[in-house]
Amino acid sequence: MRYVRSPFPLEADLRPGAPASKATFRVPARGAGVGASASSVAAAAAGAVAVSTAESTAPGAAAAAPGAVATAPGAAAAAIGAVATATMAGEADGITGLAECVGITRVTHDIITIELRAPWLTSADFEPGQYLTVRVPELGLERCYSISSAPFGTNTFTLTVKRVPGGAVSTHLHDVLRIGDRLHVDGPYGLFSTSFHPADKHLFVSAGSGTTPIMSMIRALLAHRMPDPVDIVLIHSASTPKDIVFRAELDQLATVPGVRVVVHCSRDAAAERWTGPRGRIGREILAEAAPDACDRETFVCGPVGYMDAVRPLLAEVGARRVHEESFVFGSAPTARLARRRAEQSVVPVAPGATFAIDFASSGTRVECDVATTVLEATAAAGLPVPSSCGAGMCGTCKSTLLSGEVDMRHAGGIRPKEIAAGRFLPCCSTPLSDLVIER
Ligand SMILES: Cc1cc2nc3c(=O)[nH]c(=O)nc-3n(C[C@H](O)[C@H](O)[C@H](O)COP(=O)(O)OP(=O)(O)OC[C@H]3O[C@@H](n4cnc5c(N)ncnc54)[C@H](O)[C@@H]3O)c2cc1C
Ligand code: FES
Repeated sequence: MRYVRSPFPLEADLRPGAPASKATFRVPARGAGVGASASSVAAAAAGAVAVSTAESTAPGAAAAAPGAVATAPGAAAAAIGAVATATMAGEADGITGLAECVGITRVTHDIITIELRAPWLTSADFEPGQYLTVRVPELGLERCYSISSAPFGTNTFTLTVKRVPGGAVSTHLHDVLRIGDRLHVDGPYGLFSTSFHPADKHLFVSAGSGTTPIMSMIRALLAHRMPDPVDIVLIHSASTPKDIVFRAELDQLATVPGVRVVVHCSRDAAAERWTGPRGRIGREILAEAAPDACDRETFVCGPVGYMDAVRPLLAEVGARRVHEESFVFGSAPTARLARRRAEQSVVPVAPGATFAIDFASSGTRVECDVATTVLEATAAAGLPVPSSCGAGMCGTCKSTLLSGEVDMRHAGGIRPKEIAAGRFLPCCSTPLSDLVIER
């Protein structure tokens, strides 16, 4: 695959302030006005980022080699040169509907890339690093998957899925999904994106399927900036050489000026002796690859244990602007919410205060104190509100707030446009007043 120059400026450079990777929104009740709280205005402004796309060459054929995957989805994109449009200011309308599987590529022995086409869109707009909530109609199950392609201004995009032994959805996607099948997608969601944290120098640290959003961001940075200089360091950790994700592309990336790729493996594969850096990620690997880590916008994605190991190492080498995304939740929703609260500014409410939550459709009322999420209170009262991540990420619990105010500590599972329309995520919201919810 090749990375070619975009005819467009890097919109990130034109963007106003980026949102914090974990944002706080006080959601005003409908009628109170979107601008009722300063933070909701800030949130809406922060979300009104440009959707940037690039001219690209999409060498679908390159993906034929094991381990290789196309930079941009779709042979069609390659055929027409895929000159994309750049949408400035204003939130994308989203990618919601039944997308058709138009390609499946093997990436490693347990990872595939699925190419999806959203026929109702001319351009699937998202920020690199964002994810979609995917529902498999036959299973009635939803999971989040990061988009692995960069936004290329076409209506195709890719998801890269690791098989989780015993996992319902990943197993289905690996074993049952065929070209022509359809998946319901909803999004894009997430704040883990270079678009929201513009910088000149980047450090990416990834392992396993955590490479998915990282590659989307690297692909987008290269497509937008080249031949202008880039300064990217990518550290990828794999158990064995056969587990290196996007190996052929990483090899090619390593030859791009301004890109440093460090792949290290814990051990040899049965069929291949690893001659590169060995062992688990450590201070030495980090310090050697990115001695200037303190100057780099850093993005880390991988299994929970990996992230836990990397966090102190990054601190040791002086990395300061670090953004993380985890695919697995290592703690209970309440613990996560408490941690998020501790990390963020405190919204003043009387400790121990309790508010009433009314459900307009069912006529049910529950009580909820300020330390309990709306979702927990409704579940305790036996009211079913669909939920999946319980962490403000997937958007499954999205509901409409008819009146009242909540303190919502989401992690990207709702768009500013939806917040402005009175939607909120009960799983990561606590009441600040009596609430009326449309359910
Ligand atoms: C924001 C976000 C982005 C993500 N992006 C990606 C991505 O790009 N690529 C990717 O591959 N994944 C990604 N994920 C993870 C993905 O959403 C799923 O969690 C993952 O695919 C596993 O789903 P599953 O249905 O296959 O497994 P699940 O059915 O949810 O199972 C999860 C675990 O439970 C175990 N389990 C399941 N059933 C049983 C049982 N009966 N008894 C005992 N144990 C059981 C499984 O072995 C597995 O360990 C992302 C997650 C998030 C939150
Ligand atoms: S359950 Fe995932 S956002 Fe609420």
